[in-house]
Amino acid sequence: MQLPQQVKIVEVGPRDGLQNEPTPVPLEVKLELIRKLEQAGLSVIEAGSFVSPKWVPQMASSAEVYQSIQPKPGVSYPMLVPNLKGLEAALAVGVQEIAIFAAASESFTQKNINCSIEESIARYSEVMSQAQQHHLKVRGYVSCVLGCPYEGEIAPARVAEVAQRLHDMGCYEISLGDTIGVGTPLKAQRMIDAVTKVVPVEQLAAHFHDTYGQALANLFAVLQQGVAVIDSSISGLGGCPYAKGASGNVATEDVVYMLNGLGIETGIDLPKLLQAGHYISDHLQREPASKVARALAAKE
Ligand code: HMG
Ligand code: MG
Repeated sequence: MQLPQQVKIVEVGPRDGLQNEPTPVPLEVKLELIRKLEQAGLSVIEAGSFVSPKWVPQMASSAEVYQSIQPKPGVSYPMLVPNLKGLEAALAVGVQEIAIFAAASESFTQKNINCSIEESIARYSEVMSQAQQHHLKVRGYVSCVLGCPYEGEIAPARVAEVAQRLHDMGCYEISLGDTIGVGTPLKAQRMIDAVTKVVPVEQLAAHFHDTYGQALANLFAVLQQGVAVIDSSISGLGGCPYAKGASGNVATEDVVYMLNGLGIETGIDLPKLLQAGHYISDHLQREPASKVARALAAKE
């Protein structure tokens, strides 16, 4: 069996993880979480989004968050941007990497960013050309790659089409989101098979949610196809405000535990990562949700 020797983990907790929290998380807590994630060795930490605060109130402090980060050498802090207004806000605080977010489902695109897929691609083309003029790195997301909360099944060809458009536009990496966590391993592999016909596997990331407990199995399936970038969220935080019932992303702690067991390098210190998970869970007044944290707590 072929597995990558190294995997890059993209930590999405401070953005995807927190965006759905109903109570505002104070700036200091977001910053301390980001510091703890840096200390654990994460090299990519998605730190916030420049979206409408009416749509996602929790992300309203993203400019302050970004401005207050003391960037650690070798770490990047991408920020989500839905349109030119978001890009302007990102540029105003000196952001160096952004992520644009499309979807393979027409209805989800409408609910999430209030336009059609076609309109979103046109919008993102403008964002991309301005971003390139400012020498920003641009990552692209495709949501609903294994199912949509409004449309159900999504054909792998549809995912490939949107991924290709983001890739052709200039995104250096395409993150494939099982936004509602409905996928299973063979479905995930069929989706990757379709996408790798149009985007090289080296430029793909798996962004799987764990709603039905399938995320690690799905990740193991796509690792065997050569996917070597994994998005995950500390303590399995998250959910999408426009995908009712979707639980969090796969927990970073559980991904690192699995990759350690497979002998795949990540550069991440699991005990320090667990501390980051405890820190944010304590703040949110809930038990850490990763399986690793729970297993270790049960042994104490
Ligand atoms: P709209 O209402 O169509 O926007 O929303 P509009 O252009 O008509 O403007 C309406 C108002 O919003 C105006 O203000 C604009 O200035 C303001 P008003 O005049 O009413 O006071 N506005 C903005 N404010 C701040 N930042 C901006 C911005 N743009 C307009 N960038 C819009 C369209 C895209 C803005 C909205 O739908 C939106 O913000 N959506 C974001 C939704 C979101 O963040 N979803 C979660 C992220 S996606 C996700 O989680 C999935 C992912 O993790 C992958 C996966 O899990 O699979 C990526
Ligand atoms: Mg997500």
